[in-house]
Amino acid sequence: MDLAELLAIRQKERDRQKSTRIHCCTAAGCLSSGSAAVKAQLEAAVDAEGLGASTEVCSVGCMRFCGRGPLVEVVSREGDREPILYEQVTTADAASIVKALKGGEATAPLGDRNHPFFARQFPIVLENSGKIDPERIEEYIAVGGYQQLYRVLYEYDPAEVVDEITRSGLRGRGGGGYPTGLKWATVAKMPAGQKYVICNADEGDPGAFMDRSVLESDPHRVLEGMAIAGYAIGANHGFIYVRAEYPLAIRHLQKAIQQAKRYSLLGSQIFGSPFDFKIDIRVGAGAFVCGEETALIASVEGRRGNPRPRPPYPAESGLWGCPTLINNVETLANIPAIIREGAEWYAKIGTEKSKGTKVFALTGKVRNTGLIEVPMGTTLRQIVEEMGGGVATAGGVKAVQTGGPSGGCIPASALDTSVDYESLTQLGSIMGSGGMIVMDNETNMVDVARFYMEFCRGESCGKCIPCRAGTVQLYQMLTKILNREASEGDLERLEALCYMVRDTSLCGLGMTAPNPVLSTLRYFRQEYEELLQPATGKR
Ligand SMILES: Cc1cc2nc3c(=O)[nH]c(=O)nc-3n(C[C@H](O)[C@H](O)[C@H](O)COP(=O)(O)O)c2cc1C
Ligand code: SF4
Ligand code: FES
Repeated sequence: MDLAELLAIRQKERDRQKSTRIHCCTAAGCLSSGSAAVKAQLEAAVDAEGLGASTEVCSVGCMRFCGRGPLVEVVSREGDREPILYEQVTTADAASIVKALKGGEATAPLGDRNHPFFARQFPIVLENSGKIDPERIEEYIAVGGYQQLYRVLYEYDPAEVVDEITRSGLRGRGGGGYPTGLKWATVAKMPAGQKYVICNADEGDPGAFMDRSVLESDPHRVLEGMAIAGYAIGANHGFIYVRAEYPLAIRHLQKAIQQAKRYSLLGSQIFGSPFDFKIDIRVGAGAFVCGEETALIASVEGRRGNPRPRPPYPAESGLWGCPTLINNVETLANIPAIIREGAEWYAKIGTEKSKGTKVFALTGKVRNTGLIEVPMGTTLRQIVEEMGGGVATAGGVKAVQTGGPSGGCIPASALDTSVDYESLTQLGSIMGSGGMIVMDNETNMVDVARFYMEFCRGESCGKCIPCRAGTVQLYQMLTKILNREASEGDLERLEALCYMVRDTSLCGLGMTAPNPVLSTLRYFRQEYEELLQPATGKR
C-alpha cells in the first residue's frame, strides 16, 4: 500500500456510494431496541420501491441520541438536501421512510439535528460515528482514514509526533487526566528494544458506554491512533484489552484488524516504510479492577488481574517487563484528528488546563439520554439542563454523579461548574472516564453511596486489607444507616474509615472507593442524619 493506492481506494469508495444513503444505527443501544429488523425492512422497502440504483441502506454506528433509538437518518451524499432524522423507528415505519423519498410522508417521528441535545456538541472523537459503516474499512478510508498514519510515517520523525501530542495539551481520558504527550515521551525515551502499546477498553464504570460506542462505531480510528502511538514511541506491537461484555465492539475490532492487515495498514513495512505494527485483542472477563493498568498488564500476560505497587510505572516496566504505553480508547481516538488539524487547533478547544473535548454517557433521570461530546469547560448546567433537558420530576436535578465508583455526587447548587479535570476534583468528584448520571429529588443519596460501595466491595481484588475489609465494613455501615439502626457515632466512624481506606489502599480502586460516600456526606449529610437513631449514650 502506498499513498496513491490509499487515495484510489478513497475515490473508488466515494464513487461506489449511492446518492442517497439511509443510515440505520446498529450500535448496541439501537440494536437492543430492534434496529436490525428495522434495517432489514428498510432494505426490503428500497427493493420494493425500485430505488436500488440510487439508494442504499447502511449500518452505521451510534448517532448519539441513544434514548430516542432506533435512529435512522436519510442523507444525500452530495449534500444537496438536508439530512432527515427519524426517531424511535419501528419496522412498521420502514416502508414509509423509503416512500417519503418519492414524496410520501413517513410515519416515524421526525428527529431534529438542531435539538438542544446536539447544539453544544463538538464531535472530534465521534466525528464519524453514525456516519460510516464501522464494518467497512473503505468507508473509513473515504473520510480520510489512515492518511494521518501515512503523514506521520513520511512527514514526521517520532519525536515530532510526541511533540505534536504534547503541544495539543491532550490528557488521558481513562480517568486520571495524565498528560498524554508526557507519557508518550517517557516511553519513547526508554532504550530501543521491545515496547508495547496497550489500548485500555475495559470500561467498567456502571453507566459508562463511551468507549464501547467508539469501538462499535469507528474502530479504525482507534487502530490508526494506536499505530501512530507505536511509531512515536518505537513499539511494533499493540494490544487492545476489551471486556467480554462488549461482543459487538470485539467483533468490529476483529473485523477492522483483519481488514487493515489485508490492506497492509497493519503488519510489516506499513506504507512501504520501515515501520512494522501489529495489533492483537485480549478479551477481559469483566473485572473492574482489570481496568487498572498494572492489573490489566497482569491479565494480558495471562496472570490473575491483581494490581501491583507503582513505581515502576508501565512506561518503564510494563508488559513482560518492557516499556509500555497504556492509553484509553478515547485518548487514542483523538490522535488522528490532532495530527490532521494540528496541535494548535486542538489546544484552542477547551480550557487552559483541560484541552479538547470530552465524551460523556449522559444517563439517569435526565430527559435526553445518550452520548455527548462537548468542549472541556462546558458547564454541568449546560449539559444537564440544556442538552439533557433536565429531569421530569418535581424539584428538578438533585445531583450529578461523575466518575463512576471512583467519583462523587455533585449537588445541583454546583451545576455552574465548568467540566474540566481540576474543577470536578475540587468538588470531591473526578472527571473519570465519562459516565454522567443525573439524579432527581426522589433519589436517596445514602442508597446511592451504598450502591457504589456494594460495587467496589464486589470488585475489590482482595490483595490489600484496607480495601478488601474496608469496603465490606463501609457497605455494612451504610446498610446499618439505611436500616435506621445507626447513631451519630457511626457516622463519625464511617467518615474515619473512608479516609483510612482512601489513604492506605494499594491501587486506585481502594483509594477512590470512598469518594461516593465522602461526597454524599459533604453535600447531603442531612440525609444521613435523618436516618440516625437518637443518641443513646452507648457506642
Ligand atoms: C480500578 C480502576 C479501573 C480503571 N478502569 C479503566 C478503564 O476501564 N479504562 C481506562 O482507560 N482506564 C481505566 N483506569 C485507569 C488506567 O489505570 C490508566 O490510568 C489509563 O488506562 C491510562 O490511559 P490514559 O492516560 O489514556 O487515561 C482504571 C483505574 C483504576 C484504578
Ligand atoms: S486497593 Fe482493592 S483492588 Fe486495589 S489492590 Fe487493594 S484490594 Fe485489590
Ligand atoms: S446506539 Fe443508536 S443512537 Fe446510540
